[in-house]
Amino acid sequence: MAILKIARMGHPVLAEPAKPVANPQAPEIRRLVADMVETMIDANGAGLAAPQVHVPLRVVVFQVPDSRAEQEFSEDERYDHTAPLTVLINPEIEVVDEAQEGGWEGCLSVPGLRGFVERPAHIRYRGLDLEGKVVARTAKGFHARVVQHEVDHLNGILYPQRMNDLSKLIFETEVRHWVQRDDE
Ligand code: NI
Repeated sequence: MAILKIARMGHPVLAEPAKPVANPQAPEIRRLVADMVETMIDANGAGLAAPQVHVPLRVVVFQVPDSRAEQEFSEDERYDHTAPLTVLINPEIEVVDEAQEGGWEGCLSVPGLRGFVERPAHIRYRGLDLEGKVVARTAKGFHARVVQHEVDHLNGILYPQRMNDLSKLIFETEVRHWVQRDDE
């Protein structure tokens, strides 16, 4: 495994649509995913898309542990708000409810910044895992946000392009002026 170099905003690979993976079980896809997971964890990211490591293929990895899923919710809801370490190959998203929700996003390809982005709050998504089996889930909250952010990468879109109000594109060192943290 290896920690890969992350492309930054402005690199053409981030602006191109990525290509579908022909064989999810191919050894080179397994190797790519292992390196992406190591890279994501090293960089403390919630998700990573293959174009971010200069590979223009439709592959994303992400995880949404309890600690990163905001808010309280019932036991039934918890499942929608969290996700174990997940590999999605050739993912597709379907919006369940057009209602939008705003939230702060960061991106390993846009280091040092945060932006307030509105996205549909409730989605369904499906894709393939490394065995070629279908992964299909519903997602809400931060989980829904992460999946939409990562799939946007596969379509050449970075989160600032989703923003309605660029006055809410800020340096992460200034987040304290905007977000009340529980521990403050
Ligand atoms: Ni990103």
